[in-house]
Amino acid sequence: MKLFLDTANLKEIEQAVAWGVIDGVTTNPTLVAKEGKDFKQLLAEICRLVPGPVSAEVIATSTVEMVREAEELASIAPQVVIKVPMTPNGLQAVVALREKGIRCNVTLVFSFNQALLAAKAGAAYLSPFLGRLDDLGYSGVGLVAEICGIFRQYALKSEVIAASIRHPLHVVEVARAGAQIATLPFGVLSQMFKHPLTDLGIERFLADWSRANQNNK
Ligand code: G3P
Repeated sequence: MKLFLDTANLKEIEQAVAWGVIDGVTTNPTLVAKEGKDFKQLLAEICRLVPGPVSAEVIATSTVEMVREAEELASIAPQVVIKVPMTPNGLQAVVALREKGIRCNVTLVFSFNQALLAAKAGAAYLSPFLGRLDDLGYSGVGLVAEICGIFRQYALKSEVIAASIRHPLHVVEVARAGAQIATLPFGVLSQMFKHPLTDLGIERFLADWSRANQNNK
């Protein structure tokens, strides 16, 4: 299973890369806007830090404009993956970009049928948004499980990026559901390190060590 970081913050990316635990990065217009930097420069910096795929989203709504924007973004680095919204124009852009050798991540997926259409259009990745479904009282994990199960049955090739992850239990559940990738906010990634018994264990080891050293003096 691969872990991506869902952020456009360079400090967070640098830290997660140094921990050696992330395989890629996903961004979206909201995350980029938070950083207050020029998008293309920021994307280039992210790509310098990250060895794997980096998703960058187009803002246009027409196919022609999406393809134009995507080509510009893809020229920044070979690992750039274009995030395209789950619309008819978006999927038409996926087809055009696939023919140009540019990989797409179809975003804002909220149903199995949308996932199926994205896969048929040739999306390299598709991103169901768990947390936002949970917020409305629907099961985000249930959707990921449904997509992964049926995709396996038909050997559909798009990789599923479980997105809009809100807490560490989401990570466990999408792993069980068979998601190839989970994209995590930095806060959730940091929480994954935590266990009270680990902290207690370190505290005890250090206390015993220093007691033993006192006695040996
Ligand atoms: O990047 C897409 C997704 O992960 C956004 O998450 O928390 O804004 O629903 P959220």
